[in-house]
Amino acid sequence: MAATLVDKPFSVADILAAKGRAQPLVCLTAYDKIMAQLADQVADLVLVGDSLAMVAYGQASTLPVTLDIMIAHGRSVAEACRRALVVVDLPFGSYQASPAQAFDSAARVLKETGAAAVKLEGGQVMAETVAFLTARGIPVLGHIGLQPQSVHSIGGYRYQGRDASAAAQLLADAKALAAAGAFALVVEAVAEGAARAITQAVAIPTIGIGASVACDGQILVSEDLLGWQGGRAPRFVKRYADLNSLAAQALQAFADDVRARAFPSANQVYGLEDGADSKNSDSSALYGQSVQSTGDDGKPDGGKISQLRPKRG
Ligand code: KIV
Repeated sequence: MAATLVDKPFSVADILAAKGRAQPLVCLTAYDKIMAQLADQVADLVLVGDSLAMVAYGQASTLPVTLDIMIAHGRSVAEACRRALVVVDLPFGSYQASPAQAFDSAARVLKETGAAAVKLEGGQVMAETVAFLTARGIPVLGHIGLQPQSVHSIGGYRYQGRDASAAAQLLADAKALAAAGAFALVVEAVAEGAARAITQAVAIPTIGIGASVACDGQILVSEDLLGWQGGRAPRFVKRYADLNSLAAQALQAFADDVRARAFPSANQVYGLEDGADSKNSDSSALYGQSVQSTGDDGKPDGGKISQLRPKRG
């Protein structure tokens, strides 16, 4: 495993303490147990991003995802992570109306998922809300630069901080959120000069996604870096694998085997316990558990039913 800052579970204080350290923070997204377990092995922070609306649910933007959906995924990720700090995105419409609305949503997230913190999008305009939450014990990860929840008002997924006045606004946003008590800032799709200026100006870590190596840490959507989605990825994504092609090949091989009656073969077939092929029978282990099968009357049937069911895994 790559060297990390701490061996015990990461706390908000650990993330804060990473500010300015030589070793940048490693952050990844996860929406479910398997990705969370993998990310937890290497990351300091795991984000249950509302990008799941697009990546897992095929929506055109992040806007449709609900608080209930974020909580369901957040619970699965928080239960799977042993080391990384788990943060859950507050979805569009669950926090912008008022600090009280944000508190109700964030409190539900923390109570119902076991995550340690929430993330919300917005600069100066959200500073009052961030101060309201942090004063009431809810750690907040800010998110400035490209804010996908505002895609309709900003006119597309365009990089931010392109000129001096835009960069100055970003800097003001970052300072306002830091002063309001955010423990770190996601800085998305921001010109390198602006990202560097923000990182130098605030005392909390900046976590870049398309914001250059100047940031105190980096985050990518795990499915993007794994090539799980196929198709085009944003310019700031580096593909470390092509899992989409691998999976397509595996699924094609399965389909070919089924059509050729090459699957299932003897290895995947159960036999009768009293038959010549009894070595293949596996009467007590169902789906990885030891279960005694029962007949129609609910009494043990000596494994007759269990012989017919495959064992998973
Ligand atoms: O929703 C998300 O996954 C995010 C990351 C890309 C930072 O906000």
